[in-house]
Amino acid sequence: MHDLNCLTIKELEQHAAVRMDKQTRDYYNEGADSGSTLLENIQAYAKYRIRPRVLRDISRIDTSVSIFGFRSSVPLGIAPTAMQCLAHPDGEIATARACKKAGMVMGLSSFATSTLEDVAEAIGSTPHVLQLYLFEEREHSRKLIARAKKAGYKAVFLTVDTPMLGRRNLEIRNQFKLPKPYKIANFTEDPSSDAAATVMDGSSSAKSDEHKTESAPGYHDGENRTPPRGPITFHTHAANPTLCWDRDIEWLKKECAPEMQVWVKGIATAEDALLAVQHGVDGIVVSNHGGRQLNGALATLDALPEVVAAVRGKIPVHVDGGIRHGTDVFKALALGADFCWIGRPVLWGLAYKGQEGVELCLRLFSDEIKLCMGLAGTTKVEDITKDYLVKVDRSGF
Ligand code: FNR
Repeated sequence: MHDLNCLTIKELEQHAAVRMDKQTRDYYNEGADSGSTLLENIQAYAKYRIRPRVLRDISRIDTSVSIFGFRSSVPLGIAPTAMQCLAHPDGEIATARACKKAGMVMGLSSFATSTLEDVAEAIGSTPHVLQLYLFEEREHSRKLIARAKKAGYKAVFLTVDTPMLGRRNLEIRNQFKLPKPYKIANFTEDPSSDAAATVMDGSSSAKSDEHKTESAPGYHDGENRTPPRGPITFHTHAANPTLCWDRDIEWLKKECAPEMQVWVKGIATAEDALLAVQHGVDGIVVSNHGGRQLNGALATLDALPEVVAAVRGKIPVHVDGGIRHGTDVFKALALGADFCWIGRPVLWGLAYKGQEGVELCLRLFSDEIKLCMGLAGTTKVEDITKDYLVKVDRSGF
């Protein structure tokens, strides 16, 4: 059952690193600017220690939780990450199949290299959610939402931490290009998108045969910006500086009702959590985009308690960022999260062995969650409370 070459997520990361080309490795692994928020997302977990309880008969441990009317095998899902075919030709389809096997929820990026319909078919009745960048050209978003409804997606996760795109210097230096034959699959059929729709992330002056990075110089147009026109590219359309609570959440809720829930992904403060509740969203993901947007922002685990306190159980609060072990999931739940999501570890699994690698990644986490629960003296996820945690002065691994 064990893969003796890969017994930890750290080892998975190392295997993946030597299998990916430099451009892909840099694109997946880097954070914005100096990468300090990316690092702090991970290190935040080391500031807490578990207070294990003993002699509690933990012979039956139930790691499952309810989410979207489904019993997820563990309180952990797969966060949406763009362009998974860079890691392995089977990309998002391999991830979907692995999720189905593991009984775990998958988030699909709008900027995936597989269509949302193909992913829905691959994952079947296991819940899947669509990550959404709400475009200024509403018609494109409207079409995507209609397709997601038809394909059975349970929710849209509106990404709210990208009013501008974070600065990722390795992407700029590598002049990132999505290699052929891969495409940003959800937008290739849009009549207004010609071949340039395959451009993953390009500068606003990108030519149709270029596949440039989202962080290409010149995209911060500041006051001179004009709403994007023409082909949908990550770079021209993903960041939407006009997004705001009143107009846009209302619009999105109407478009998604009644089939799909509306969640906001990228909340990091109590103030915004309260606004999310006030605007009637169905759930919150505490996230900083895996440290890829505002460097210097609070680690997500450090932001979690204030969000949980503000929401007071009115809607679910999820968290992602820096989760690399089952004990991290335990700690996030103890601090009040209802559910966790992982981004990069799944990409590393894909790069290691395609679907088999993702299955391994999910198995490692699932085993670690179960072991942690048992050794801490808990048999049900609901039992995991802050009583099991203590913050220490000195972090360490
Ligand atoms: C992401 N993330 C992301 N988020 C989103 O809302 N839409 C997207 O298209 C992407 N794309 C993406 C690509 C890559 C390569 C990475 C690493 C991340 C962010 C993602 O959903 C999640 O918030 C983080 O990945 C969580 O942090 P960890 O688990 O990677 O540390």
